[in-house]
Amino acid sequence: MKVYITRNIPEAGLKLLKDAGLDIAVWTENYHQPEEELIKVLQQYDAVLVSGPVKVDRHFLESCRHLKIVSLMSVGYDNVDTEAARALGIAVGNTPGVLSGATADAAFLLMLAASRKAFHMHKEIIRGNWNFWDPTANLGLELGGRTLGIVGLGKIGFEMAKRCVGAYDMKVIYHNRGKNEEAEKAFGAVRVSFDELLEQSDVVSVHTALTPETKGLFNKNAFSKMKPSSIFINTARGGVHNEADLIAALESGTIWGAGLDVTNPEPMAADNPLLNMPNVAVLPHIGSATVDTRNAMAVIAAKNVILALGKRPLEHAVVE
Ligand code: DGY
Repeated sequence: MKVYITRNIPEAGLKLLKDAGLDIAVWTENYHQPEEELIKVLQQYDAVLVSGPVKVDRHFLESCRHLKIVSLMSVGYDNVDTEAARALGIAVGNTPGVLSGATADAAFLLMLAASRKAFHMHKEIIRGNWNFWDPTANLGLELGGRTLGIVGLGKIGFEMAKRCVGAYDMKVIYHNRGKNEEAEKAFGAVRVSFDELLEQSDVVSVHTALTPETKGLFNKNAFSKMKPSSIFINTARGGVHNEADLIAALESGTIWGAGLDVTNPEPMAADNPLLNMPNVAVLPHIGSATVDTRNAMAVIAAKNVILALGKRPLEHAVVE
């Protein structure tokens, strides 16, 4: 059986596939393989392991209906038309759980970096602008005892809450479709409406999936309800915020700062105004990028391939 991998993955995953006797090929160019070319190549393969932002839409799936599995090396699956996959009988796997801690670390880092203008200060030193110790300049915000508002309190949001409560004794409020009893018990988290969350939070951290309901959720209207001293953090998907509205909210002082690990589009252009705002910290979608986490993700994605090809239930299934 043959497996195609859309971007190189850690050796731990490759080894599992090789040990299972699978014939593997990996796209190693430093650009994304054009979709039509990928579809053509996949005609020769039984499974695809998707690492990277490949658009697995209806056209892709209908053109590759022979595939046994689309195994994602990601927890997010907004790039996949799951309805089409289900209708065509193509399994879809993902890698939840193992990246929650690392992604929450990135959210926590961005919160701190934005609150203390850390990335900007670093650039100022490089520019030769560290001249003297100024008691009135470079002032940031403190986080102790402030309110953290989590939009989409699942596994990653839980880890973010754990860090914020542990480090800063922050009060946790959240907006979810359902109750998160574990977080309510562990942190005294309180479920509130979206508007209440915007109005009460000092830090708003987004951990929701990108869906038709959450696309552009953070727009001019949402930012206008946030505190002028608040910080917006997004480590989920760039599509959840409207970038032009975020820039306007920061420029006008509607909100105080932002930390982004995800942007729309990705990659972000080097001349994006957000990169020159002192109270903004941006990372290039590296939430899960630690050695341990990427190894664990590669292992699950590889196992899902092996299980699907062996006609067995996936370890983590989006569509089975
Ligand atoms: C995920 O796992 O969804 C990460 O954001 C990588 O896409």
